[in-house]
Amino acid sequence: MSKILVTGGSGYIGSHTVVELQRAGYEVIIVDNLSNSTVGVIDRIGRISGKRPFFVKADCSDRGVMRDIFGRGNGIDGIIHFAASKAVNESIDKPLHYYRNNLDSLMTLLELMPEFGVKGIVFSSSCTVYGQPDLLPVDESAPTKVAESPYGNTKQISEEIIRDVINSGVSFKSIILRYFNPIGAHPSAEIGELPNGTPQNLVPFLTQAAAGIREELLVFGNDYNTPDGSCIRDYINVVDLAKAHVVAMHRMLECLECDSVEYYNLGTGKGVSVLELIDTFERATGIRVPYRITARRAGDIEQIWADSRYANEVLGWRAEETLEDTLRSAWKWQQSLV
Ligand code: NAD
Ligand code: WQD
Repeated sequence: MSKILVTGGSGYIGSHTVVELQRAGYEVIIVDNLSNSTVGVIDRIGRISGKRPFFVKADCSDRGVMRDIFGRGNGIDGIIHFAASKAVNESIDKPLHYYRNNLDSLMTLLELMPEFGVKGIVFSSSCTVYGQPDLLPVDESAPTKVAESPYGNTKQISEEIIRDVINSGVSFKSIILRYFNPIGAHPSAEIGELPNGTPQNLVPFLTQAAAGIREELLVFGNDYNTPDGSCIRDYINVVDLAKAHVVAMHRMLECLECDSVEYYNLGTGKGVSVLELIDTFERATGIRVPYRITARRAGDIEQIWADSRYANEVLGWRAEETLEDTLRSAWKWQQSLV
């Protein structure tokens, strides 16, 4: 049974991925410093899967602790590296924190991997690397654009660091996964997104507004060059996204002839506007969302959705959940919190 180190495994995407890894028979070790999650998530993962994953509270840029974890006879085969700070606005105020946390943690892992014979690392990247693409849907060959935020820049730099390290001839591989907009929660409502303070992302804000925690959802602009004037994104169900990590890990560990660094877009391939998403939520749940159109948000791109055919064809993965079911899962999760 292969052992996988999941950094940031008590976070939003990490926790869903740990459940799917366990279901596929992998043994999981989570390292998380709990800067944006709680230890209770580990118990919740255990309740879903029937097996509480091994958990170490640590910062994965702490080389001493990480060396200890790698060396403890754990025999780690692969890593999925979720651990990072991810709030776009905060990164503008605290750029050094973002560069330090997101890059140090990655470099620490990359430095230790050869020493302990780790075969590969799956890295959490983002569609933010594409900026506003020239062609839609955007595929993996599209150029990266100047980052809109220090956070976005850390994803671009991380991808470059991985590519340069792989090109230097190390013995391990990497798969870089570019997520579009992950939303929703596990159908059990045991795990989901836990925003810290006022949510910045659309769906957590929307469900809080629907629950009466926020007075109203502000829709940032209806004067974009899109059919209804609001921005378009590709909203991907978090469990579908988690499953992609399992197939990526399998490929990275088992495929001998594969390239040593591969890039995959993970999205549904469908663009959905903010107003369409609100309407879909209302139809799927029967709950009205109080909302108001307001000015554009600085830094927002107009529209983006994924060409995920490469992941469909090579990984044999595709997004399966409907937007309706995904938004129902987000609502069920929101209700479990109040
Ligand atoms: P999250 O904040 O819920 O999870 C990240 C986890 O990493 C948290 O539990 C946090 O405590 C932990 N962490 C942060 N820094 C750490 C460190 N130095 N050492 C150990 N643990 C640390 O975020 P998420 O939404 O699950 O995102 C996971 C990854 O996916 C991140 O790398 C993020 O940048 C990337 N990503 C997220 C989205 C999104 O919209 N959620 C989109 C694209 C990419
Ligand atoms: C989606 C749409 C907003 C909130 C961000 C990061 C990106 C990636 C995913 C990590 C936009 C609109 C939002 C609100 C609104 N993260 N909106 N009212 O901006 O596509 O991407 O998260 O890598 O890097 O930038 O996601 O959920 O913030 O916004 O109208 O209160 O919803 O304008 O069109 P975004 P989002």
